[in-house]
Amino acid sequence: MSCTRQHSRKVERMAEPSTAPSTAPVDIESLRAAVRAEYAAVAEHPEQGFHFHTGTRLAAILGYPEEWIAGLPPSAVESMAGTGNPFALGELRPGERVVDCGSGAGADSLIAARVVGPSGRVIGVDMTPEMLAKARRNAEIAGLPNVEFREGLLEALPVPDDWADVAISNGVLNLVPDKTLALAELFRVIRPGGRIQLADIVLDRPVPGGSKSDVSLWTGCIAGGLLHDELASLVEGAGFRDVEVRRGADVFGGAAQHSNAAAFGTVGAGIVGHKP
Ligand SMILES: C[S@@+](CC[C@H](N)C(=O)[O-])C[C@H]1O[C@@H](n2cnc3c(N)ncnc32)[C@H](O)[C@@H]1O
Repeated sequence: MSCTRQHSRKVERMAEPSTAPSTAPVDIESLRAAVRAEYAAVAEHPEQGFHFHTGTRLAAILGYPEEWIAGLPPSAVESMAGTGNPFALGELRPGERVVDCGSGAGADSLIAARVVGPSGRVIGVDMTPEMLAKARRNAEIAGLPNVEFREGLLEALPVPDDWADVAISNGVLNLVPDKTLALAELFRVIRPGGRIQLADIVLDRPVPGGSKSDVSLWTGCIAGGLLHDELASLVEGAGFRDVEVRRGADVFGGAAQHSNAAAFGTVGAGIVGHKP
């Protein structure tokens, strides 16, 4: 991630229990339906314009090397919808196993599959059928047999215990109502010594209580966001060590559809941590 302002907090001790809300006051099924509808549109009509950037413009804002993007199928690039660059948070190594949580149309999974090479493996997980179908086509076009896409939730990852060396994610955690459960799942699927490299968002101002149940503010990547310290505490509370939350780029300014993100001081963020 291209960190415009570095504001990180490193934690090297056992955290106090998180004071951040574990579950949000939102109807979970309505939220999932709205998120699926939004990202089905990003998969099938990426040209329509959203409240966030997509495609090559987004990739440039997030600092992805041009040659990586040029090496992907255009149909993977056009539906990129992340909020950061998980690969800027740490290097992947040949032979590693990677879980991409909320893999969308597969761009990050395909990049990871190239980096870890034939002896490595990548599992992308997503809950939106249109994204999964597109990601699977993209893996075929890219000719990468070491990546597969599984339907599932971050809150119940279809991945065995201790399977992954690293979990990556991009723009997804803020969309998950029960972040404690999702982070527990990330912790479960990573091997001891493994790590998380998550791109997401942080807020500068808390979302007022009443707005936390507004599904449109959730799909707008606002209501599900957390303040910097809340996010760090939640990740520490899941058991991760050496946690850092880094401020990232302004990923909403100038997007095609109006976004309320600026009103809440919403910016991209990178989250790193290790499983002891
Ligand atoms: C903002 S998009 C990012 C997609 C991809 N990571 C990228 O960078 O282009 C969010 C993705 O997360 C998926 N998603 C949202 N909530 C999820 C959940 N609870 N479990 C699994 N996938 C989820 C959506 O279907 C969508 O594909």
